[in-house]
Amino acid sequence: MATSISYSLKVTTIVLSIIFLFFGSSSAQLSPTFYSKSCPRLLPAIKSAVTSAVSKEARMAASILRLFFHDCFVNGCDGSLLLDDTSSFTGEKRATPNLNSARGFEVVDAIKAAVEKVCPGVVSCADVLAVAARDSVVVLGGPNWNVKLGRRDSRTASQSAANTSIPPPTSNLNNLISRFSALGLSTRDMVVLSGSHTIGQARCTSFRARIYNETNNLDTSLAQTRRSNCPRTTGTGDNNLAPLDSQTPTSFDNNYFKDLVSNKGLLHSDQQLFNGGSTDSIVRGYSTNPKSFSSDFAAAMIKMGDIRPLTGTNGEIRKNCRRRN
Ligand code: HEM
Ligand SMILES: *[C@@H]1O[C@H](CO)[C@@H](O)[C@H](O)[C@H]1NC(C)=O
Ligand SMILES: *[C@@H]1O[C@H](CO)[C@@H](O)[C@H](O)[C@H]1NC(C)=O
Repeated sequence: MATSISYSLKVTTIVLSIIFLFFGSSSAQLSPTFYSKSCPRLLPAIKSAVTSAVSKEARMAASILRLFFHDCFVNGCDGSLLLDDTSSFTGEKRATPNLNSARGFEVVDAIKAAVEKVCPGVVSCADVLAVAARDSVVVLGGPNWNVKLGRRDSRTASQSAANTSIPPPTSNLNNLISRFSALGLSTRDMVVLSGSHTIGQARCTSFRARIYNETNNLDTSLAQTRRSNCPRTTGTGDNNLAPLDSQTPTSFDNNYFKDLVSNKGLLHSDQQLFNGGSTDSIVRGYSTNPKSFSSDFAAAMIKMGDIRPLTGTNGEIRKNCRRRN
């Protein structure tokens, strides 16, 4: 009798553990095959929508990639950045790092609409953005990787976390290292992910102080060229654009790191990665070895995509990325 009770207790424990393993936990793992049964046409639908948007405007690839970064850095990759402000809700779009700067939300809407057409109500906005960021990199010639999926969408957003978690372009090397490390990303991850600045544009207001005040580590001729479209006086030409990669801003290549080695980083934070400090050797390595840049970048994107996802029954699958259901 006693043995049979203890036996049935053991069986119950094992069965409960199995149930918990499959359904229970908030630490559920993301997986590249998450939608293979529920939405087999997902990946081609996203790829075609991204390709079409980027063929209209090459910069859009950069803008989408950056949205994924700004989503993941604020309470995890949960689509929080995509929520619009309303009279009773403050989202992240007007936070300092995003205001007048984060763009591409209409394209995310179009991609999500294409996904809703093939599998209504199945795929989260957080996952749509993760795949769209990968496709954006691939379309401009960068590395490919398998995107882990199964994220769910937040019902909340945090403007204050967006203000404090996303590093500003005035950051020094220690600030950059610590903001990434707070999210489990190493110094090497930080450097390789900064290689995203091989594509896209920045506003004058993001690099004005550098081109007028930093002479010791800024190429003179680049400084002159950038000053010609970014007036010294605050408030004039603040939104004028310049490419983050001085040579090939619509190719995902390692020229960003070549720029850094020749003091041609556009942002103060860019040049911090090659300024006589601990990350110089990493930058030098990527500047001469495009293959190691590609493979490390892909691995670091997967790692960034793993930051605190909502899984299981947490969050929701938003219908419209701009609002909670
Ligand atoms: C290391 C710390 C980083 C800092 C301080 C930083 C800062 C910035 C700034 C200031 C801009 C220009 C914004 C503007 O003037 O409107 C920018 C653009 C951009 N950032 Fe970063 N960034 C960092 C890391 C990253 C990471 C990790 C990614 C992606 C994984 C990324 C992707 C981009 C892209 C693609 C653009 C161009 C966007 C466009 O053209 O629309 N950045 N970044
Ligand atoms: C975020 O920063 C902006 C600009 O400095 C400020 O107006 C806003 O109040 C900040 N938001 C929060 C919640 O701290
Ligand atoms: C350059 O630095 C000086 C002195 O710190 C400061 O007053 C000035 O506003 C800076 N100029 C720009 C364009 O940031």
